[in-house]
Amino acid sequence: MRPLEVENMGANGHGERARKLPKDFVWGYATAAQQIEGATSTDGRGESIWDRFAKEQKDKVQDGSNGDVTCDSYHLYKTDVALLKSYKAKGYRFSLSWPRIIPDGGRDDPINPKGIECEWAAFDSSPDSQLPPVTVLHRSPLDSPGAGSADSLRCLADYNNLIDELLANRITPFVTRKSLALSPHLLPGGAEKDVVYHWDFPQVLEDRYGGWRNKDEVVKDFTRYADVCFEAFGDRVKNWITINEPYVVTIPGWFNGDCAPGRSSKRPYSAAGDSETELWIVGHNLMVAHAHASKLYSRKYRPSQGGKISITLNGDWAEPWDDTPESYRATERKMAAAIGWFADPIFLGRESVSMRQMLGDRLPTFTPEEWELLRDSSDYYGCNTYTTNYIRDGGDDVSTGCAELLFENAKGESLGEPGESSQSMAGLGSLGIPETSQVPLQAIPEAYLVSDLSESSSSQVCAPSVTEAGYASKDEHLMTREEACNDLDRAAYHTDYLDNLLAAVVDDGVDVRSYFGWTLMDNWEWSEGYIPRFGVTYVDFETRKRYPKLSSRRVTEWFDKHLA
Ligand code: NOJ
Repeated sequence: MRPLEVENMGANGHGERARKLPKDFVWGYATAAQQIEGATSTDGRGESIWDRFAKEQKDKVQDGSNGDVTCDSYHLYKTDVALLKSYKAKGYRFSLSWPRIIPDGGRDDPINPKGIECEWAAFDSSPDSQLPPVTVLHRSPLDSPGAGSADSLRCLADYNNLIDELLANRITPFVTRKSLALSPHLLPGGAEKDVVYHWDFPQVLEDRYGGWRNKDEVVKDFTRYADVCFEAFGDRVKNWITINEPYVVTIPGWFNGDCAPGRSSKRPYSAAGDSETELWIVGHNLMVAHAHASKLYSRKYRPSQGGKISITLNGDWAEPWDDTPESYRATERKMAAAIGWFADPIFLGRESVSMRQMLGDRLPTFTPEEWELLRDSSDYYGCNTYTTNYIRDGGDDVSTGCAELLFENAKGESLGEPGESSQSMAGLGSLGIPETSQVPLQAIPEAYLVSDLSESSSSQVCAPSVTEAGYASKDEHLMTREEACNDLDRAAYHTDYLDNLLAAVVDDGVDVRSYFGWTLMDNWEWSEGYIPRFGVTYVDFETRKRYPKLSSRRVTEWFDKHLA
């Protein structure tokens, strides 16, 4: 896919070369089930670790809220799709909820009975179609609620409804049942990205065997869950993401306890058996689970479904704060932990040398069979890239945590632009692994973003897709609706970002395939509750009404102008 230079006739009649993204570039918005769906006890959904965390470790959620209702997209999905349509989005990246699909989560546990009654819908949305928008062909029971095999699964109502609603609105232009020929529009590069795992792990499995830290169990259960998803939705979904941001699953979830399941490897270790190695085991198991699910897709589904699969990593770039060797080393550590830990095995087929050096034998090793599975397990480089962080070494004032176990005397810091105020990142300094600012002060300083991707070896192996980029100002939650909807800062963030992305594609030849703004609408921002508002749509959390913000218009205008 190459960028185009299109001849435009300017007002003066002279030809100008317009800089455009290719017409099959996919842009749209991203969301995640736990953050928007609500309805956490509706229609048989099981409990997720985030449901439990927000209730039992309430003090860790900044405003004490939970995700029980959020945007109520479970019921209001048609409104969401209408919004996407009004924004002229070509794609929508959303996640499936594991505990909604398999409430108890496990490989022998039943698929949600809500899937018993559901609609098989097929429709042709081409302009000259004679068909009504949706033709219900068939109502089909599952073989039995307890059957649980992917083969017995005909469809799952909730997500099928959403997918079909998207397709009916030409967010994907044509759909057919899987027994019919695939539309070329649905081949790789198509308009949807479904995330199989965006952090809402089934609580039952956490209680049953310790969740992600139990490789033998969790890999089998995750693979079966993925199997169910591919079987149910793969006829129409052609872009899959196995796992969203494994780095964030591990560090806040299993090192500092800020996110679900809220375990902490910091000293003093809890009686529950936390250890300084647990988070590295969890990260390792996430990669193995990704590899199994991906290989299952390639073997069982790709031949007939023809889609693509990947994982989404935290792609935030890091630059040294200054020219000192300490800052360079701290930057390398940050990049190694946030990206290389996962990207090197998955995209380059080798373990991260820096991680091995830093962790020694606390970093688990892959078996030959796992290496084999990891090979070619991602078709594109999915990166959530919000900003560039300036990094410096924090010196030796490490007082808590396991820093001395991990990164000898190292404490990094994640900073905004030099000269801007520094933001302390969730206590990760003691790990030497600063985290991205939730409130980026500057979108993409000096266009590091995608140009730097071109220098990253991972993205030379696979074309990058920006699976998330977004902005929340510090005080939007304190504003009136009118003020919040006049979000000049967010509009500038996205359009600046896109200008840089365009430059990377056109000038540097980086083959970026998509851009998904985070996020379609304000939603539940995990342990920060409803405080950060990242949406291009304002949500009134009393009424659940959605109001487009200025940024949504600016993004649409940008793509109107820059898409071939
Ligand atoms: C990345 C995560 O995937 C998403 O869930 C989160 O809301 C955004 N970052 C913003 O923090």
